[in-house]
Amino acid sequence: MKILMVCLGNICRSPLAEGIMKQKIREASLSWMVDSAGTGYWHVGELPDRRSVVTAGQHGIDITDQRARQFQVADFDRFDQIFVMDTQNRRDVLRLAQTEAHRAKVMLMLDELYPGEDRSVPDPYYDDNGFEEVFTMLDEACEAFVNRVA
Ligand code: 4NP
Repeated sequence: MKILMVCLGNICRSPLAEGIMKQKIREASLSWMVDSAGTGYWHVGELPDRRSVVTAGQHGIDITDQRARQFQVADFDRFDQIFVMDTQNRRDVLRLAQTEAHRAKVMLMLDELYPGEDRSVPDPYYDDNGFEEVFTMLDEACEAFVNRVA
C-alpha cells in the first residue's frame, strides 16, 4: 500500500499526516509506504512548519526529515491512495486526474471518520493554536484507515 497525503503548502497538515501514518504503520509492523505533497509550489524544498514539527515532537514523532514538494500528475500512478486534507485540495487534485482510476484514488482524509460529510481538516497556518486539534483529527483518521484496510 502506497499512501500520499496532500494539502496546500505541504508544510503544516500533510507532513503531520505523513508522520502520524508512518508511526501507525511501524506500530502495526506493516510494510506500507507514505509520502506527502502540496498542491501549491510556494514552499517546495522547505522543512515542515515549526509548529507542526513541535506538535509532532510532543507526540514522539520526528518529521524533520521531510521536505515540501508539489503534487504532480505522476503521483496518481505512484500511489494507491491519495488523501486530501480539504475540499479545495480535492478540487485541485481532481482537476489533474486523467482517468477514472486516478479519480478513484482521491479521498478526503476525514471521510475515514465521517463518510460523505465532506469535512475538511482546517488549515492551521494562520492559527497557532490549531495544530494540536489538527493532530488529533489526523491521528484518529489514520487510525481508522489502518483498522479498515490493514
Ligand atoms: P498546509 O498549510 O496546506 O497545511 O501546509 C499552509 C501552508 C502555507 C500556506 C497556506 C497553508 N501559505 O499560504 O503559504
